Amino acid sequence: GKEDAEYLVSLVRSVPGFPKEGIIFRDFMPVLADAKGLRILLNALEQALPVPPSEFDSIAGLESRGFLFGPAMAAHLGKGFIAVRKAGKLPPETIGESYDLEYGTASVEIETIAVSKGERVLIVDDLIATGGTAKAATDLIEKAGGTVVGFSFVMRLEGLDGLSKLGSTPSSSLISMPA
Ligand code: PRP
Ligand code: MG
Repeated sequence: GKEDAEYLVSLVRSVPGFPKEGIIFRDFMPVLADAKGLRILLNALEQALPVPPSEFDSIAGLESRGFLFGPAMAAHLGKGFIAVRKAGKLPPETIGESYDLEYGTASVEIETIAVSKGERVLIVDDLIATGGTAKAATDLIEKAGGTVVGFSFVMRLEGLDGLSKLGSTPSSSLISMPA
C-alpha cells in the first residue's frame, strides 16, 4: 500500500551528477540492504504484477540491476529466470539487440536456448527511464520466439515517456520519480 511505497521511496538514494552532469542517479541498493525494505520490495512487486502469474512462464531480468531481484521473484512464483545480458558476456549461440541509453549506447544479448517458442515472459528491471533497455530486451525475446506479456519495474522516471516505447503491453512500477 501507500505506506510501503513511502518506505521504499525513503530508502532510494538520489545522487545528482552521476554518472554524468544533468543526471540524477536513482540508487535502489539501499532498499536491498534494508531487511524490511527488501521484503517490502519483493512483496510489492508481486502484489503489483501487471498480469497474473498464470499468464507468464518465466521472468527475464535485465543486467545488472534486474538480476538483483528477478531471480527471487521467479523462485517465489515458481518460474524460471532468463538473464538478458550486456553484449559479449555469453557463450554462443547468442542473439543481440542494440539500443540507445539515457547516457550512451549499448546492446543486450541472450542465449538462444534461453527462450522456447511461444514462451510467455515477464520482463523485470529496477528502472524505466527512456524505455530503450526494456524495448531492446522485448525485441530480443520476441526474436528468440518468445512473447513479452508484461513489465515490472521498481521505479519509473517521469517525463521521459519511457512507457510509450512498450506499446500496449501492461506494466507496473512501484515508485515514480522526477527524471
Ligand atoms: C539503467 C537501469 C535500467 C536502464 C533504464 O541500467 O538499471 O536498466 O538504465 O534506462 P532506459 O529506460 O533509458 O533504457 P544501466 O544500463 O545504467 O546499467 P546497470 O543496470 O548495469 O547498472
Ligand atoms: Mg540496468
